[in-house]
Amino acid sequence: MKYQFAERVDLMKSSAIREILKVTQEPDMISFAGGLPAPELFPLAGIREAFQEALSSDPAVLQYSNTEGFLPLREYIVSKMQQDGINARAENVLITNGSQQALDLITKLFINPGDIVLVEKPSYLGALQVFRSYQAKFVDIATDYEGINVDAFELAIKEYHPKLIYLTPTFKNPTGVTLAADRRRAVAGLAAKYKVPLIEDDPYRELRYYGDPVPPIKSFDGSDWVIYMGSFSKIIAPGLRLGWVATEGELMDKLVLAKQGTDLHTGTLVQRGVYNYLVNHNIKAHIEAIRAEYGRRRDVMLQQMDEQFPKNFSWTKPDGGMFLWVTLPEGANSGSLLKQAIKEKVAYVPGAMFFPNGGGLNTLRLNFSNSTPVKIKAGIQRLARLLTE
Ligand SMILES: Cc1ncc(COP(=O)(O)O)c(C=O)c1O
Repeated sequence: MKYQFAERVDLMKSSAIREILKVTQEPDMISFAGGLPAPELFPLAGIREAFQEALSSDPAVLQYSNTEGFLPLREYIVSKMQQDGINARAENVLITNGSQQALDLITKLFINPGDIVLVEKPSYLGALQVFRSYQAKFVDIATDYEGINVDAFELAIKEYHPKLIYLTPTFKNPTGVTLAADRRRAVAGLAAKYKVPLIEDDPYRELRYYGDPVPPIKSFDGSDWVIYMGSFSKIIAPGLRLGWVATEGELMDKLVLAKQGTDLHTGTLVQRGVYNYLVNHNIKAHIEAIRAEYGRRRDVMLQQMDEQFPKNFSWTKPDGGMFLWVTLPEGANSGSLLKQAIKEKVAYVPGAMFFPNGGGLNTLRLNFSNSTPVKIKAGIQRLARLLTE
């Protein structure tokens, strides 16, 4: 060992998903493993024009800028959140390099080694990675087809006094499940009652294919205990690395300080280019187009699973998002089956990775946004053959 790294470096594990993705690059592989949008649906022409517009006028697009972010973009985000029932002003919005950075900044502000973070079981792996890197411990709460169990949630807050709560209530990564509206109201109330900051991570909200929108948890939050995070990754493109966090004054001031120390600000050109795209191009039509195509892919995958999977498997049927979650019979191990699956040229993510305190061995995550319907059909057939054996 050449270097004496800090203790927390031991806790930084390479994301198991990235390891799987490395072996899924071969051309004949059908991968349901990643969480990627469909690149053929990226609004390349619109983005090109919007960035050209940004570059053709003001040299300030290449200059350092303020940490909080480009004011017109923050105002756009405010009006977007207001349509979802969130009351905020531009001063409540910090632009970040994706919502992933917002997660890192929030965790940096709250978590000392050994502090508890309350999470859903299962939870988004990228968030677990961040919490681990700050030496957090986890209390994980069971979920059902309507999201987190509110009684278990309150009991856990009372017993473990978490420093932070982390929820992805809408079309959750990894299960696709959406937290019911009454439970949203309840968890917002409990965060306020016990004075625990609750992170609402909401990047999939607009990818709804069926049913009516459910208001964000933040819209039920009368006393500023809910920290809301949004992202342009799923509705425009993840490579832009553009997201935001919305919260109240004192926490916002600290987040700005934390971001200053991390990267000064999010790229000026990206903020201005995306802002141009949002106001001068038809983002609504673009979102309609991706919703139509992802909805179709979801339907094809579900129909194929209905036809091919044995009756003793169960799976989620989400109204939106990018993922389905499969539960195999008790005793099955999706992790050890993966090697065989990869040999048969189909990949998924074993569910156990999303359980911070163990469990979920008989579960797996399937992504449907990144494969064409033809590939989805073929891939589910391969999977059905393998998993049934
Ligand atoms: C629940 C959740 N939160 C955050 C992120 C990170 O998104 P961003 O690209 O905005 O950093 C992802 C990405 O897959 C996600 O699934």
